Amino acid sequence: MITAAIDDYRERARQRLPHFLFEYIDGGSYRQTTLARNVSDLDSVLLRQRVLRDVSAIDLSTSLFGRRQAMPIALAPIGLAGLAARRGECQAVRAAEQHGVPFCLSTVSVCPIDEVAAAAGQPFWFQLYMARDRGFVRDLIAQARDAGCTTMLFTVDLPVPGARYRDVRSGLAAAPGWRGTTRRLGQALRRPRWAWNVGVHGRPHALGNVAPLLGASSGLEDFFRWMRSNFDASVTWADLDWVRAEWPGHFVIKGLLDVADARQAASLGVDGIVVSNHGGRQLDGAPSTVSALPAIAAAVGEQLTVLVDGGVRSGLDVIRMLALGADGVLLGRPWVYALAAAGERGVAHVLSLLAEEMRVGMALTGCATIAAIDSNVLATGQD
Ligand code: GLV
Repeated sequence: MITAAIDDYRERARQRLPHFLFEYIDGGSYRQTTLARNVSDLDSVLLRQRVLRDVSAIDLSTSLFGRRQAMPIALAPIGLAGLAARRGECQAVRAAEQHGVPFCLSTVSVCPIDEVAAAAGQPFWFQLYMARDRGFVRDLIAQARDAGCTTMLFTVDLPVPGARYRDVRSGLAAAPGWRGTTRRLGQALRRPRWAWNVGVHGRPHALGNVAPLLGASSGLEDFFRWMRSNFDASVTWADLDWVRAEWPGHFVIKGLLDVADARQAASLGVDGIVVSNHGGRQLDGAPSTVSALPAIAAAVGEQLTVLVDGGVRSGLDVIRMLALGADGVLLGRPWVYALAAAGERGVAHVLSLLAEEMRVGMALTGCATIAAIDSNVLATGQD
């Protein structure tokens, strides 16, 4: 089978990264059916070939949350991405800037907010998880604000981590102790290039934003310890007011897959939502994002910005998502595969590939601008 460029990056990431890290990035929950559906459902959306339209000048630019950007894509927040390459989030933010798209930093990143802010030349986005310790959350929000972040993605689909058996098998989610550490060390030593570049020269490996809360301890064990013991599973819609009162910028809820939830978000006046099933890492058996998107966009698309993630592996997939009602797309695993394979250059390359694939796709569907991409671009939406 001929694979797209992003599949090649995935293969190179598999060869480069210690097993536990590749499994973490690549994996989904339970039997990974939702993860697979995100990709296959998107693949099966048929595009409508149109001809004899003037597509000599294609414009990929768009505006999201009041800022003009080069294309309707942002780099999704990914936990631990900073371990895919040396100080990985700093490399990724530079690649995103080079291509004029926003980078979103995860709460559970390796590089802390201030380190990424120092590497970035422009404002970036920040993703927030709600911790039980509200003082910590308040402080994190203040750091994001002081670092000049413009937009906050508040993730709501992870009250508890999904059952990710690949992380259990790889040893990443092993109980704290020497056994897990030894296994991971063994896997790291089998990837000498990574061990030298990231393992030795990419320290500290602690979760940069969370380290203050965890005190002196650090390391990979913190990640699951943090997720299991500090995430606040009691959060409800009523708590959104508290977060919003702390955050002065654009406020986006990430992790909606249901029309009723999207309507509730709209009624609270948020600036945007991300239709997401967390890349198939949470509720396995949930619908793919591409199948949930049209109804959600129809229900709330007039009131707020609708972003979507899940399964995007090409520029054509971006066009499909826009045609189904999204205003923009978050790119997840592909940028981390590219970061692992080729660092900042790899991420920049993936973004240029997506831009090129979008340009060709738009020309062949007869769209010269992003605004022109609507349901008419779908083979099923013919008038
Ligand atoms: C964290 O966001 C994860 O999905 O592991």
